[in-house]
Amino acid sequence: MPSAKLELRSIAMVFSSSAGAVDALTPVSFAIEEGSFVSVIGPSGCGKSTLFNIIAGLQAPSGGSVVIDDEDATGTIGRVGYMLQKDLLLPWRTVLDNVVLGMEIKGVSRQRAHATALPYLARYGLGGFEHRYPRELSGGMRQRAALLRTLLLDTDVILLDEPFGALDAQTRASMQEWLLQLWADFRKTVVFVTHDVDEAIYLSDEIVVMSARPGRVVDRIAVPLARPRPRLITNAREFIAIKERCLDHLAPPVAECAA
Ligand SMILES: Nc1ncnc2c1ncn2[C@@H]1O[C@H](COP(=O)(O)OP(=O)(O)O)[C@@H](O)[C@H]1O
Ligand SMILES: [Mg+2]
Repeated sequence: MPSAKLELRSIAMVFSSSAGAVDALTPVSFAIEEGSFVSVIGPSGCGKSTLFNIIAGLQAPSGGSVVIDDEDATGTIGRVGYMLQKDLLLPWRTVLDNVVLGMEIKGVSRQRAHATALPYLARYGLGGFEHRYPRELSGGMRQRAALLRTLLLDTDVILLDEPFGALDAQTRASMQEWLLQLWADFRKTVVFVTHDVDEAIYLSDEIVVMSARPGRVVDRIAVPLARPRPRLITNAREFIAIKERCLDHLAPPVAECAA
């Protein structure tokens, strides 16, 4: 069996607040194979963003460790690309200057970063918009720019926290195709958080299902559907069976529904 690209070993997180301790994650462990596309689903407030912050090294876990390429990466910033749930483009920078921001922060000169980024902008649907400002773009195009910024970092693991949550259904569907194309081209390992079970199944090789807070892994579901997947695969028997299994976990008693 190939060794894991990313491994979470017993990650726990307790926040202290004025009302006392908040148990956000009880030991969460799972491993992700290199090059795979894995989605994490779970009720709002179950600790998905917290888990991403920990993987990205932005928050120290209360317990456990993050292992990347068999090395302890707990608390290490810069090992993964991370698109935060509310990732925003800087309004005073052009699209091109936003896309190269991550590279610039890593010390690449702006000129070199521009030369690297321009062909990608043209290839991935932002050609002609390089020198526009974020306010001049549609929601889908802004997300393309934010995603390209994350993908052009020199990291082979990418964390995407609900990147399409605010988009209308049609834009969302075209962004899913776009992301799969990039995933195929860039060959990165992607960990993806979504609220949308159809989206998780359509995109992923595997789905990690988390429980309501304190978050823990309640199921791991393989998605053995051949790629490329037609849009109407959502009607296929295997797709529906996976969806039912996901929804079974996500439909708790009403009293537990509050986030
Ligand atoms: N800095 C913090 N201090 C206290 N509680 C927090 C903090 N960050 C997150 N939480 C709590 O931890 C839980 C998990 O939050 P989060 O990871 O944002 O969930 P999700 O992304 O799954 O919706 C929530 O109950 C949230 O209120
Ligand atoms: Mg979140």
